[in-house]
Amino acid sequence: MAEKFIIEPTGRLMGRVEIAGAKNAVLPVLAATLLTGARSVIQNVPDLSDVESMCCLLEFLGAKSSFNKSGGELIIDTDNITTYEATYELVGRLRASFLVMGPLLARVGRAKIPLPGGCAIGSRPVDLHLKGFAALGAEVDHSHGYVTVTAPKLTGAKIYLDFPSVGATENIMMAAVFAKGKTILENCAVEPEIVDLANFLNAAGANIRGAGTDTIKIVGVNDLHPTTHSIIPDRIEAGTFMVAAAITRGDILLCNVMADHVKPVTAKLKEVNILIEELEGGIRVRHDPSQGLISADIKTLPYPGFPTDMQAQFMSLMATAQGTSIITETVFENRFMQVGELKRMGADIKIDSRSAVIEGIPRLAGAQVTASDLRAGASLVLAALNADDVTEINGIHHIDRGYFNLDTRLNNLGAKIKRVEVEVK
Ligand code: UD1
Repeated sequence: MAEKFIIEPTGRLMGRVEIAGAKNAVLPVLAATLLTGARSVIQNVPDLSDVESMCCLLEFLGAKSSFNKSGGELIIDTDNITTYEATYELVGRLRASFLVMGPLLARVGRAKIPLPGGCAIGSRPVDLHLKGFAALGAEVDHSHGYVTVTAPKLTGAKIYLDFPSVGATENIMMAAVFAKGKTILENCAVEPEIVDLANFLNAAGANIRGAGTDTIKIVGVNDLHPTTHSIIPDRIEAGTFMVAAAITRGDILLCNVMADHVKPVTAKLKEVNILIEELEGGIRVRHDPSQGLISADIKTLPYPGFPTDMQAQFMSLMATAQGTSIITETVFENRFMQVGELKRMGADIKIDSRSAVIEGIPRLAGAQVTASDLRAGASLVLAALNADDVTEINGIHHIDRGYFNLDTRLNNLGAKIKRVEVEVK
């Protein structure tokens, strides 16, 4: 049954929130469990529909999983892989499911996967993933919407990525774990989630050095072994709660967050006059009543630049700041899906190619809106927290893909969000 959020006007959000494990770290780690051929224990796993979709896919491939949701512990056994082929129905739900291609290729020498679905944010090709597999010696074939890669044995190679793609770095890194000799991956992504994946694989016996820098070296090993790994905190979820504090002129303490990982976001919040303090128990984010929120320009970039996954949430914030802000999206095309909906809420935003020009207004207006994707959905929830009237947000299954119980956790901080079933007429 479809659901929607009804969000009433809220005052300042205050209190403490625990940040969950990172969606974008757990999905590649789950794909990587295919390489181990053993039982992996993954801790600090967020209870998200994307995690469920990835587990469904792994089970389809032959794995066995059990998820203790309240304890955040997922046990996955990939001893018995029964197929190298994923169905459109499973992969269409989740773009990150394409990440099983590298591990399947490495483990069983073959993978057949439909071209991926996922968030509607630009064309999102996978050419860099495939070029990497080909460089390791795989044959790549496209037909009927499926990609098939085949290689009885992979051999280490030097691979230069045209763009530091997160998914391509992860997929090629996983494919190279058993490749004969040394693989050197240059101009690769340096996101914290890449480091988390390398840490998991190394703990299971892989030989990967340099994750977190633009050159990763992988020396092929013969096999991996069972391991336990704890997922890093979600820097995007943390950033979203930080904006919730800022947009309601509130005061929130975020616990279980890595201060280094959210630096690009905290730097921008400081620039717009939000106070940020690193305390022993977490990061405190609060509005300074002596200073108004001011505009800022933002350009999204690969890490450690400003994250594209925080662009929509910051747009809501800038829509309520004093002055003109320019937000430029350089990572994805078509990632301004939230703009039309924010305009329905009274925001003054104009799009000029890859930039959005935002004239801040003191308060947004409640309206009926629809979430088109995960982060656009989060931006609408944030905008609603600032609005002067009731906001209704449809399409919230997109939000549940990447935020566990966002409504309940915001309500614990003082928000008034109701989750209601949508009547089908
Ligand atoms: C990951 C994140 C996503 C985030 C993005 C950028 C996961 C599960 N998802 O997505 O939340 O927004 O990083 O930080 O971790 N590209 C190509 N060819 C390729 C691959 C990518 O041209 O083969 C392009 C994409 O179209 C896009 C850019 O590279 O314009 C960045 O994409 P990429 O870093 O690969 O993002 P994802 O791994 O899909």
